[in-house]
Amino acid sequence: IFAAVEMAPRDPILGLNEAFNADTRTTKVNLGVGVYFTDEGKIPLLGAVKAAEKARLEAAPARGYQPIEGLAAYNNAVATLLFGKDSALITNNQTLTIEALGGTGALKVGADYLKRLLPNATVYISDPSWENHRALFESAGFPVSNYAYYDAATRGVNFEGMLADLRTMPAQSIVVLHACCHNPTGADITADQWKQVVTAIKERNLIAFLDMAYQGFADGIKEDAVALDLFAASGLQFLVSSSFSKSFSLYGERVGALTIVAASKDEASRVLSQVKRVVRTNYSNPPTHGGAVVAAVLSSPELRQQWEDELAGMRVRIREMRSAIVEKLAARGVKQDFSFVLKQRGMFSYTGLTAEQVERMKTEFGVYAVSTGRICVAALNTKNIDYVADAIAAVLK
Ligand code: LMR
Repeated sequence: IFAAVEMAPRDPILGLNEAFNADTRTTKVNLGVGVYFTDEGKIPLLGAVKAAEKARLEAAPARGYQPIEGLAAYNNAVATLLFGKDSALITNNQTLTIEALGGTGALKVGADYLKRLLPNATVYISDPSWENHRALFESAGFPVSNYAYYDAATRGVNFEGMLADLRTMPAQSIVVLHACCHNPTGADITADQWKQVVTAIKERNLIAFLDMAYQGFADGIKEDAVALDLFAASGLQFLVSSSFSKSFSLYGERVGALTIVAASKDEASRVLSQVKRVVRTNYSNPPTHGGAVVAAVLSSPELRQQWEDELAGMRVRIREMRSAIVEKLAARGVKQDFSFVLKQRGMFSYTGLTAEQVERMKTEFGVYAVSTGRICVAALNTKNIDYVADAIAAVLK
């Protein structure tokens, strides 16, 4: 039965890990996947996580099934992190959160649920968007189109184009928005522009699906939630996928969440009952460990502070690497002005390198980046940055 099966192409992001791992050069550098590494080139195990894990190990809890929607303490902590502890949406019980398998799992549960609710809708994603968005929504059965977003000339957002596209979408279209730290470009819209987006979504009767995978990586937990605050105040119903892969450095534990804002408590409980059917028929209920650890950190004032400090440390180190790569490219006589890297937010830089230049970096230097020219600045460190700057300078000559 498998005789005619064709080889699928490698995943554009995770496939780079496979190629990187198979590369035997000791100088190789992986700037492909969005993962934060320390200056020593290690994925950190955060102190707050370590403390919560130690306490959990000592308590030696049994491993019964979780509820279909996951741990209540975790789900409550997620909603509070997204909307703030005084949020009227939370006190009115208008939100429902389910623990999901990472941000990707949250997007897929949300997509599968929306397909049942709105079978004829079109999904719109930014041009460009995270490599997996299109494939994920298509696999849920939706047609997927782009809305204007990145302006290569200004290295910023083509906001007029974005707004114009929002204003022509059919009612009840689903619009996937990056809540902060746009992946792959690092170009975010301002608070004032978010207000205009919310107004357009309301006027056109669109459904916003906010992807929040990098909360805390631009300016801070609260500061990075400006889009969520505006949507929360709008009276709209919308969806949010969020992830602790990056902010808690818990990539492999697959800790994410899908949060849906409904019009009322009663509506929220009906929506939850439907979302639970999607979960039950996919993976039944989520694993225990990651969610329990995140809930423990977020519910302890000391561990929460420790976590925020550690997150700030990651944010600061990424900024240092942004400055350093700009300086080092200039020092190598690279003619292009790379100062735009300083303005980009989050883990990535959309460098403007072409697919051919990215390919040369890989073959000639063992420096891996996404073919669109996206590099993970969070994987640069004081030991590999000169080598990476050499590679970029060489392919730009
Ligand atoms: C990325 O964009 O590199 C990350 O979100 C990891 C992934 O799953 O693609």
